[in-house]
Formats: sequence, C-alpha cells, structure tokens
Amino acid sequence: MYIENKWYLACLQEELDVQNPLKKKMLGRELVIFKNSKGEIGVMEDRCCHRNVNLSLGYIHGEHIKCAYHGWEFDTKGICKNIPSLPVDKPIPNVCKINSYRVRTDYKSVWVFIGDEKYADSEGLPPMTEMDSLPRVYNYHYFKADLKLVAESLIDAYHINHVHRNSIGTFMGNLHAGQVDFNVKKGNDWLTGTYERMNEGSFWEKLYFGFTKTIRTHFGFWFPHTSKLDIEFPKRRMIIYEHFYAVDEETVCMCQITLWDNIFKTLPPFARWFMHRKSVTIVEEDLTFLENSFEVKARTGKTDLLVTPSDEITFEFTRIWNAQTATNATNSVSE
Ligand code: FES
Ligand SMILES: [Fe+2]
Repeated sequence: MYIENKWYLACLQEELDVQNPLKKKMLGRELVIFKNSKGEIGVMEDRCCHRNVNLSLGYIHGEHIKCAYHGWEFDTKGICKNIPSLPVDKPIPNVCKINSYRVRTDYKSVWVFIGDEKYADSEGLPPMTEMDSLPRVYNYHYFKADLKLVAESLIDAYHINHVHRNSIGTFMGNLHAGQVDFNVKKGNDWLTGTYERMNEGSFWEKLYFGFTKTIRTHFGFWFPHTSKLDIEFPKRRMIIYEHFYAVDEETVCMCQITLWDNIFKTLPPFARWFMHRKSVTIVEEDLTFLENSFEVKARTGKTDLLVTPSDEITFEFTRIWNAQTATNATNSVSE
C-alpha cells in the first residue's frame, strides 16, 4: 500500500526542459511534468485522452503540452485547448481533459500532491530552505528495497565509518563506543537532532575543513519521504537530503540532493563535479546494503530487526514510522 495524501518532490527545476516534458512514475502513477512558456508548471496523468498514448512523447508548445500523435494541446490543468482537426465552428467537448495534480514550487523544485486533495492544504513540506540559496547537485536511484530502511539509512549515525569507509572515511568525523547525546527533538511526524563526531580526518582534510576537536552533525527525518544529514565543519558546510518514495509495488526511488557552502568556492564547476562524484559513490555504497537486506528478507522470510541502546535515533524513527504508516493506512481505507 502506498503512503498517500502527502506532497512529494516530483523534480528539481533544473530537470525541466523548454521543449520536452518530463516523465516520472510515483506511487504507481505515471506522471508527465512540463513548464510552459509563462513558467507555469503542470503535472498530469501521462496519458492522452484521445488514443491512450503517453503525453510525455509530445512536446511543449507555448503555454501547452502538445500530444505527438494528433497534436491535441492541453494546458497546465489538463484542459484541452486545441484539436487541430476539429471544424472551426465546433467547440472542444468538455470530456477532452486529463487528470491533473495539485502543484507547489517551493525550494526551486516541483512538489506534487498525491492522494485525496482534501488533505493538500493541511499537509506541509519539510523545511529545506537551504535549497533556495546553496549550490546543489542531485542524482536519482531506482532499486528494490524496504522503504522504511531507505528512510532510516541517512540518519543512521553509526554506519558512516563502516559502509562509507572507502569514500568518506573519517572526513565527516567518527563515533566511538559509548553513549552519544543525539539531542533528539521530535513531533508526530518528524524528528531532528544534533551531535558531535570526533574530528579524525587526515592532516590535509583538517587543514581545509578545520582543526576543531569535533564536527557538529545535524540530522532530520520528515515522514514519509525526506531525511537530512548536515555536516557543520568549522569553516564549511555540507548538507545531504534524500527524498524517497515507492515507484510501484516493487521499486523505490531515491533522489539524493547534496548542497554545500564555502567548499571550493572559487572553482564552482570543480565543486559540482566533486560533489556529484562523491554523492553517487556514497549512495551506491548505501544501496549495497539496502538491496542486500531486501534480498535477505525475500530469501529467509525474516523481518524482525533489533534495536540496541546505542540506536536512539533508530528507536525514535521507528516509533514515528510505525505510528504514521498506521494512521495513513486508516485514512486511505476510510476514504
Ligand atoms: S492520441 Fe493524443 S492527440 Fe491523438
Ligand atoms: Fe550512508
């Protein structure tokens, strides 16, 4: 069952083209996204109501998206505005329209409401305000995994020095045995926290990122789709967001967005290249374990997971996830 009645990040604004629409699949829905000549965004079902072909095969024509098969044109709300073959004295029938979705354009991104629109105004977005000002790179990954495990993976404090030992190593700092105070704050559908990682990077890493004893680390999760890891070096900052959702019954999509402040500032193209390369490597390392866990579950049928006293973040995350998925399922059933 999908987690509906939420705003989902459909794409970043830099994914949108002036000529070609964008095709996405989210929570079992085939979507087409386009930006018209006035900068208005439309998100609708990727299906022309004339002959059942994908509208994403078409192209953007002024304020409309134009189906490539017979040239019917639709506005951003999915209303048909032109049928080239229709006699001039005949009106366009009202039935010539396509299901469209509610859209928001916060954080230089396109958000789409998936579910019953009566919940759209009461549902908010995660606080991702750095997206408005900091440089960013993004990458998408599609894979088979447990959505809950994907959601938890970025804020799992103890995996970094193990899973990412060959890519990150100790440059984000290290955690040692013993109780760390994660300063967790929580609400019904979110949690945030802050803790210190021991600054055990190489001499050259410290020279560039700073020589303090610890590196402050912030994290957050907003049900059901967004996690954040924010590394506050003494002089610089790196933020990773992950936005994830079910594509269909089998596949998870993870969009990873990396932002930075004051890193390779005089060399923006190099900074983008470096951040993109690092980000992709980091996700691929995570995927090894997320996919593996899914396979092990499928093979063994075992689903029980242990939480130890060191897993405070996981404990709070699990509490929120279980409560919210139960509420979400109830809402969806009662509609
Ligand atoms: S199938 Fe789209 S216009 Fe005919
Ligand atoms: Fe990771």
